[in-house]
Amino acid sequence: MRRVMVAGNWKMHGSFAGNRQLVEEISAGLSADAAVDVAVFVPAPYLAATVELTANSAIAVGAQDVSVHEQGAFTGETSGAMITDCGATMTLVGHSERRTLHGESSEAVARKAEAALGCGLTPVVCIGETLEQREAGTTEAVVAEQIDAVIDQLGIAGLARCVLAYEPVWAIGTGVTASPQQAQDVHAFIRSKIAAVDATIGGQLRILYGGSVKGSNASELFAMADIDGGLIGGASLSAENFLPICRAGEQA
Ligand code: PGA
Repeated sequence: MRRVMVAGNWKMHGSFAGNRQLVEEISAGLSADAAVDVAVFVPAPYLAATVELTANSAIAVGAQDVSVHEQGAFTGETSGAMITDCGATMTLVGHSERRTLHGESSEAVARKAEAALGCGLTPVVCIGETLEQREAGTTEAVVAEQIDAVIDQLGIAGLARCVLAYEPVWAIGTGVTASPQQAQDVHAFIRSKIAAVDATIGGQLRILYGGSVKGSNASELFAMADIDGGLIGGASLSAENFLPICRAGEQA
């Protein structure tokens, strides 16, 4: 049976005290043998403390970005080795806010995924189209280009070690969720594109959906054949909103 992943992206939110309360409430609400993989992607200053807070739970901790560089004169950057040194095991790469606000190209995102893998981190590679691109009918071309950049950089075997997160930019933080069918259509396209290169990898790769996922829509999204979980922004900032999504993941 497939196992769903529910991943919280805290973005630039949090404090030591607030994170402690949030993690304690999430852990308390999850059964020890919960049939769902739960992860939180936290701001870099909170990585080590969050790893400690989650030590007795099944919650994985990840960073929100990683440098392509190993070390050196790159002020403000965080290397993959530093993230693993904090005890985290995953990192987001290519979130649309990084692509848009920091001009990260698909090639740069692919290099970040490679840097993460090189440090033993699982990269969650975020992809997705803008509203203009969807309206212009280029959704598949856009996500294909974003995936091809990763395959070019890592090979299909490298992609197999990643998780993909399809996040239509128009659905992120807007309250507008892609309908389950809209999301499924793109997920099926992504999976078949990868399966055309390697059927086993295409079948097994985890593809999360992100963009205004909440307790009220998680079940129907996770019920779709090619949606293997969710990347949750706003609704990951309180246990009251996040736990129902985890439960929907358990039941999927
Ligand atoms: P959202 O954000 O759930 O608030 O739409 C998702 C994300 O940015 O990963």
